[in-house]
Amino acid sequence: MPHPDDRPAPPPADGDAAWSGDARPGDGVRPGDARPGDGVRPGDAFRHESQGVGDPVRTFHPRRAPLGERRTGALERLWPRFGVSVHDPALGLPPTGPDGTLDAVRLFGRSAPLVLEIGSGMGDATAAMAAADPGRDYLAVEAHLPGIANLLVLLDERGLSNVRVAHGDALDLVRRTVAEGSLDAVHVFFPDPWPKARHHKRRIIAPDHVALLRSRLRVGGTLHCATDWAEYAEQMLEVVAADPGLTNPHGGFAPRPDHRPVTKFERRGLDAGRASHDVVATRTR
Ligand SMILES: C[S@@+](CC[C@H](N)C(=O)[O-])C[C@H]1O[C@@H](n2cnc3c(N)ncnc32)[C@H](O)[C@@H]1O
Repeated sequence: MPHPDDRPAPPPADGDAAWSGDARPGDGVRPGDARPGDGVRPGDAFRHESQGVGDPVRTFHPRRAPLGERRTGALERLWPRFGVSVHDPALGLPPTGPDGTLDAVRLFGRSAPLVLEIGSGMGDATAAMAAADPGRDYLAVEAHLPGIANLLVLLDERGLSNVRVAHGDALDLVRRTVAEGSLDAVHVFFPDPWPKARHHKRRIIAPDHVALLRSRLRVGGTLHCATDWAEYAEQMLEVVAADPGLTNPHGGFAPRPDHRPVTKFERRGLDAGRASHDVVATRTR
């Protein structure tokens, strides 16, 4: 049976796809190319594109939540500055170079080491980490639109220029657009735990996904994961240990780094008595 979110996207709600703007399919519009006032904003549904060899699984729960006035306004106002869409050319795909891979210099307007954050949630950790790390650029990818909108608000409030947000499936973005060896770090904090055994195939920290992410790291770059789900934490250690191109410098769990802020998800786990575990691995070849 197809995953519910593999069905064709429903017709967009009023205004969701209203923007046709100046973007042409495939031209890799850069945030900032669209003019404020164009009313550009993504809808909360997007089509899951088949890769041809069986459908890749979704690693997130498809869900819809009302945006509210503040976040709707933030999307309309700030999307042209900070947002790209993984899937929808009309909303501005990430800019690409002649070889078809992500042109981070165009996306950020400068050349700096790039951190990819997968599943940025409400964006609080992204905004805090990027603010404390102005020498690196952060590309936050999230499938859940209210989280994207919330991060836009935080970027605006804090005046951050080293973050861009991408709406859609991060694994699709990585497969299609991110060049091998181009990332300084990949962060995957509190990914959906998919606790039922029949759903384990949806976990993002799994051998094939980790091999993909490792291939996009530079040699010496780091994959940093965290979870409050004890059994998933053990799986993270095992997957990292089994990957031939990754080394775990800590042998086991990494000490909790001070620079990773406690998010709502982590707080919820802590309140329920679930300790967090960090797993850090370095690409060695
Ligand atoms: C449990 S939340 C944690 C959010 C955040 N990292 C935190 O610590 O608060 C996991 C998030 O990852 C997102 N996610 C999972 N798989 C994803 C994917 N392949 N692409 C984009 N977002 C994804 C989900 O939509 C969800 O918002």
